Amino acid sequence: MYNVRKITDSLFYVGCSDRKLSLFESAYPVKEGMSYNSYLISDEKTILFDTVDKSCWEQFQENLKAALAGRQLDYIVVQHMEPDHCALLEEVVKLHPNVKIICTQKTVAMIKQFFNFVADSNVMVVKEGDTLNTGRHEFQFIMAPMVHWPEVMVTYDKTDKILFSADAFGTFGAVNGNLYDNEVNWERDYLDEARRYYTNIVGKYGLQVQMLLKKAAGLDIKMLCPLHGLIIKENINLFLEKYDRWSKYEPEENGVLIAYSSVYGGTESAVNLLAAKLADSGVKNIKMFDVSITHPSFVLSEAFRFSHIVIATTTYNAGIFESMETFLHILASHNLQNRKYVIIQNGSWAPACGGQVKEILEKLKGSELLDDSICIKSTLKEEQITLMDNVVNTMVKSLGL
Ligand code: FEO
Repeated sequence: MYNVRKITDSLFYVGCSDRKLSLFESAYPVKEGMSYNSYLISDEKTILFDTVDKSCWEQFQENLKAALAGRQLDYIVVQHMEPDHCALLEEVVKLHPNVKIICTQKTVAMIKQFFNFVADSNVMVVKEGDTLNTGRHEFQFIMAPMVHWPEVMVTYDKTDKILFSADAFGTFGAVNGNLYDNEVNWERDYLDEARRYYTNIVGKYGLQVQMLLKKAAGLDIKMLCPLHGLIIKENINLFLEKYDRWSKYEPEENGVLIAYSSVYGGTESAVNLLAAKLADSGVKNIKMFDVSITHPSFVLSEAFRFSHIVIATTTYNAGIFESMETFLHILASHNLQNRKYVIIQNGSWAPACGGQVKEILEKLKGSELLDDSICIKSTLKEEQITLMDNVVNTMVKSLGL
C-alpha cells in the first residue's frame, strides 16, 4: 500500500524505511533501521529528488505512482549517485521514458558506471548556480562535492525556501510515522544518531562541509529535506551549528572519552580506577567503551564529541591490540583533530604498543599528548597509583575544572 506524506501543497514524501538492514553500507550497525528519503514536487512540471535503496523498490514504486496521480514524471534530480539513493534510477526511467535526469557532469560518468541504460539525451547537466523553473517553483542547484561523494549537489527551492540537502543533515534510523523534527524530541532522541551518521559518513571531509555551510549561510532556509532521517524545521540552526563544529573538528563538549581494549581485564581495571578518580575530582562528562565490544562507529562519534581522549590498550604481537589498532586508524582516517590525549599501555612481557599509539595520534592535526607515563605490566600496581593521580590532576587542569 502506498504511504505518501504531504509536506506542502506541492511537495510529497515518497521515501521509505528499511528495518531489516543490519549494516548500512555494509559497515554501520543501524539497530533502528534506515530511511531512504525521496521527494516529489507536483508543479506545472513534476520533479523527483532522488530515488531510494533497492530494498524499498515496492514501497517506493507505489508511493511514486500515488503521488504522481496519473501524471508523467518530467524530471528526476540525481543529487547523489550512491546506490542507497540511485539504485532505482533505471526502473524510474523505464516507467517514465521521457524523464530528464538533472545532475552534475561527474554524475553522468557515474550513471554510466552503475548502469547501461542512459543515453546522453536523457541528461541535463547543471553546474553551480544553475536554476530550473517548474511553474510555481524555482530551483537553484548548489555543488556539494565530497558531501559525501565528488558528484554531489544539493538543491534550493527558492519559492518555498527548502534545501534538499542530499546526505547532509541526515541521520541513521528509520522514519517511524513522525516525519518532522518538531514532532519529536529531536535533540534528545535523534542528535546522537545524527552525529554518528555525520562523523562516520562525511567526518573526513570537514573542509568540503565548511564550503557547503558557507553557501548555505547565504540562503533563507525554512526546511531541510535530507536523504536520510527526519525533515528538519525546528532545529535548523542547532543542526547548522553542530555541522559547523563537527566539520571544524572542534569538540562539542568538555569531557573525557576512555577507549580501551583489555584481554584479561588488567587494562580495564586500570581505566575503571582512572574514571572513578576523574569523577571524584569533579569530571562529570565521562564515557567509556571497550573497543573490542562497541562498534567503532559509536566510539568515533563520541571522539568527535569530547575534548579529551584516553587510549588504553594492550600490546599484542609486538603491536597494538587489533581492535584498538582498527579504532585508531578509524580516528585517523576520519581526520579527527584538536583533541587532548592520554595513552596508557599494557604488556605482560614486552610492552610496546604505547609508542605505536603515540605515532598514530601525533599525526592528527592539533593533537596534544597530555601524558603517556603509565605502563602496566599485566595489572596496575600500588606503586603506580601516584602516576595515575598525576594523570588525573593533568586532565582536570586541562579540562579547566
Ligand atoms: Fe546516503 Fe552517501 O549516501
